Amino acid sequence: MVETPKDKFVINPSAALCGTTKVPGDKSLSHRAVLFGALAQGESRVRGWLAAGDTEASLRAIQALGVQVERHGTHDLTIHGGTLSPAAGALDLVNAGTGIRLLAGIMAGQPFSSVLDGSEQLRRRPMKRILAPLGMMGADIHSVDNHAPLLIRPAQLRGIQYDMPVASAQVKSAVLLAGLFAKGATTVTQPGPARDHTERMLAAMGADLSLNGNVAVLNPGNALQPVDMTVPGDMSSAAFLIVAALLVPGSDITLTGVNLNDTRTGLLDVLLGMGADITVTETGLEAGEPVGTIRVRHSVLKGTEVGGDLVVRMIDEFPILMVAVLTADGTTTVREAEELRVKETDRLAVMTAELRKLGAEITETKDGFRITGPQDLMGATVDGHDDHRIAMSMVVAGLVAEGRTTVLDARCAGDSFPGFAETLVSLGADVRVSEM
Ligand code: S3P
Repeated sequence: MVETPKDKFVINPSAALCGTTKVPGDKSLSHRAVLFGALAQGESRVRGWLAAGDTEASLRAIQALGVQVERHGTHDLTIHGGTLSPAAGALDLVNAGTGIRLLAGIMAGQPFSSVLDGSEQLRRRPMKRILAPLGMMGADIHSVDNHAPLLIRPAQLRGIQYDMPVASAQVKSAVLLAGLFAKGATTVTQPGPARDHTERMLAAMGADLSLNGNVAVLNPGNALQPVDMTVPGDMSSAAFLIVAALLVPGSDITLTGVNLNDTRTGLLDVLLGMGADITVTETGLEAGEPVGTIRVRHSVLKGTEVGGDLVVRMIDEFPILMVAVLTADGTTTVREAEELRVKETDRLAVMTAELRKLGAEITETKDGFRITGPQDLMGATVDGHDDHRIAMSMVVAGLVAEGRTTVLDARCAGDSFPGFAETLVSLGADVRVSEM
């Protein structure tokens, strides 16, 4: 089904969700596969690539930079990497924060100018977090008050030692990628375990990268070798199906081929601590990442506390965690999650506002929230705010609300999970996509 810009999802209370399915390819890995493949000397082959709003924007960007890409069907690519050449116009990363921040690190080291831009939503997101360290490296980047569009001019970069103030994989990646084009070593120290896909993929491609706990040291000089990889399923997409199955009585679903990288599995740890019936079986390695099967059965959950390193290991999963804990017995408190305020939307404020429309009682705090459950939800009309994780979380809430729920502006689910509604329907949910 083609999702047009005005698509809305209409959700009725769900029968048990049952069956086995796969989730689309990992978004973080799919961005990196095309961006790093563009730099590699030779042909990279990528199977199971995520063809979604965000990642297609990164793909169009490398094509605009002169990189030839052959598509074999929707999910398999051959990337003819090597050298980048000037693009005819601005590179439009649309809603993709990962795309613009990682590409900024790459473009800072090129011998020609470029302009990186995106949607109104992307223009609102903070870029100072990459502009500060890239500036220390000597990058010549002009922004609109630390926001996109970014005008990047050629400059000789130098390696730096950077202590990241926030645990952000996008910042870490932008600095390491710029480090590929710098004179001297680049050292990045992160305050917590941000996802490590860049380190794994660059090392696999032959970069001189050493890792010691939270410190990564990159020495430039080694030409990147092409990748040959199958992208595993995205844990952050699996999260919506996992919570849906936990909440809908009688459910029993199995998800195969999911990326189980420890920097991405914080939600599983939290849900297991809440009493969830989840079985994880590791089946092998794909693209240097552990992959496996996740079986989820309906469970009665109890409240919990989340803070510290767990926050970064599940940073994209808080919208759907909010839905889960509404049904849990007892109080859940989340702290140290202020990063949620600078995602596609302010996810703390937006989820609180939208769930309240279903009758939820939530205390929003500066850096998290407090919810006491179990609470009954009532179907209502809510908004997806052009934020894929908000829209999908509200669809899952609709599965367990009494009566009908309508999620407006839900097409954005396709930024990371094309076919989300169809996947839920294949498991037994009553979700319809219609034009607004
Ligand atoms: C991502 C890093 C995270 C995450 C985003 C994807 C990545 O952002 O929220 O969805 O692929 O590097 P931050 O680096 O801003 O935490």
